[in-house]
Amino acid sequence: MTRTLVKSGTVVSSTGAGPLDVLVDGGQIAALMSPGSTALGADLEAGVDRVIDAAGKYVVPGGVDVHTHMELPFGGTFASDTFETGTRAAAWGGTTTIVDFAVQSKGERIEDGLAAWFAKADGSCAVDYGFHMIVTDVDDQSLAAMDALVADGITSFKLFMAYPGVLYSDDGQILRAMQRAAGNGAMVMMHAENGIAIEVLIEQALERGETDPIHHGLTRPAVLEGEATNRAIRLAEVAGAPLYIVHLSASEALDAVVAARDTGANVFAETCPQYLYLNLEDHLGAPGFEGAAYVCSTPLRSKHEHHHQDLWRGLRTNDLSVVATDHCPFCMKEQKELGLGDFSKIPNGIGGIEHRMDLMYQGVVAREISLVRWVELCATTPARMFGLFPQKGVIAPGADADLVVYDPNRRTRISVETHHMNMDHSAFEAFGIDGGVDLVMSRGRVLIEGGEYLGAPGHGRYVRRGLSQYLL
Ligand code: URP
Ligand code: ZN
Ligand code: ZN
Repeated sequence: MTRTLVKSGTVVSSTGAGPLDVLVDGGQIAALMSPGSTALGADLEAGVDRVIDAAGKYVVPGGVDVHTHMELPFGGTFASDTFETGTRAAAWGGTTTIVDFAVQSKGERIEDGLAAWFAKADGSCAVDYGFHMIVTDVDDQSLAAMDALVADGITSFKLFMAYPGVLYSDDGQILRAMQRAAGNGAMVMMHAENGIAIEVLIEQALERGETDPIHHGLTRPAVLEGEATNRAIRLAEVAGAPLYIVHLSASEALDAVVAARDTGANVFAETCPQYLYLNLEDHLGAPGFEGAAYVCSTPLRSKHEHHHQDLWRGLRTNDLSVVATDHCPFCMKEQKELGLGDFSKIPNGIGGIEHRMDLMYQGVVAREISLVRWVELCATTPARMFGLFPQKGVIAPGADADLVVYDPNRRTRISVETHHMNMDHSAFEAFGIDGGVDLVMSRGRVLIEGGEYLGAPGHGRYVRRGLSQYLL
């Protein structure tokens, strides 16, 4: 078994940062030592296969991205990253575990939807992966299947208050699924937008001839995200189930989460980098059809309101506990273009799996969040929230040796020319990044080093998850 010493770096965890050497033995972290410690022998370097010098750099747990959609069928096409290309891009960006959403299509058995996702991922992934399950048909059969999935390590279920006729569940169905989760310990994840009201607004906009991408955002107002978030919280309260709001973008939705958390409810929320950095007017409202690149749901919000500041505040106060990407890439050509002349036909999604660690590190640089909070939001809390901890999300003896050597002194620039996602554009084109990923290790194997990819499809293993560790 290969032994590696990562020496002289500053190890960052969710509880602090300091100089520590990390001994990796095979696929796991074996020890953390103060520099110069002789506890494991006078000359540890001589006894290992490899020494990685991390002087002047941060050593952080590999990122855990709990919201991705590889090959998601949407609007007549499929998200353009496969498990192979998407997890390779994840590795490039310092993410070593993903949790992707398996889908039960309407009329399909949950077990069959899940089997299809296992088949797509098997043998393809560069990094470790788990699954949540999207439930679109709530009936006795699928409710029973939820129990079986929990036993198999799929311990979270996403329901949609949006996308009527496709992924949507009504309040009664949601309540029933929540009641089941209350019984089996699973986490309910909610896409909280009032899809029925949004359908009316879309129809009316199209009747007025408003077809450009910006109308995607204008027909999905923040108040309807706030209303749905509040309704989901009330339904979870009635069911006695925990609730995790995905891709929260609006101050109104955050207000509902804050109010619930202030009562001590098991209500949690994630946001995504696009909601912290991009906006309705400049991005979704870009000239011509360019705004299509930024069509996602929940949508980007207006720069004339205060969503960005509120979301950053929520990240500091832990009312937003997780930053995930909602990685759901579609190329402009032949995919986003499906909505030329009708914004409602633009496939919804933004790709960003490669840039989450970098983009959130900019929050450290800008003093919006601390270094420790960066690690907590991008690795430790997502691992704990979805039953992956302490195998993932922490550099500690016994944990998987998933780590990133991050150089705060690098300066990089995001571009479609250099990214590794299977997309013909980048939503974050030309963003300057202070800092950069130097080296990425997954279960003791170096995946990225010296600007080279050294991983392989099939290295990534399925991770059976436990229950959320935030619940009593
Ligand atoms: O626009 C998005 N978010 N696409 C992916 C599906 C979802 O709702 O998460
Ligand atoms: Zn969603
Ligand atoms: Zn999503």
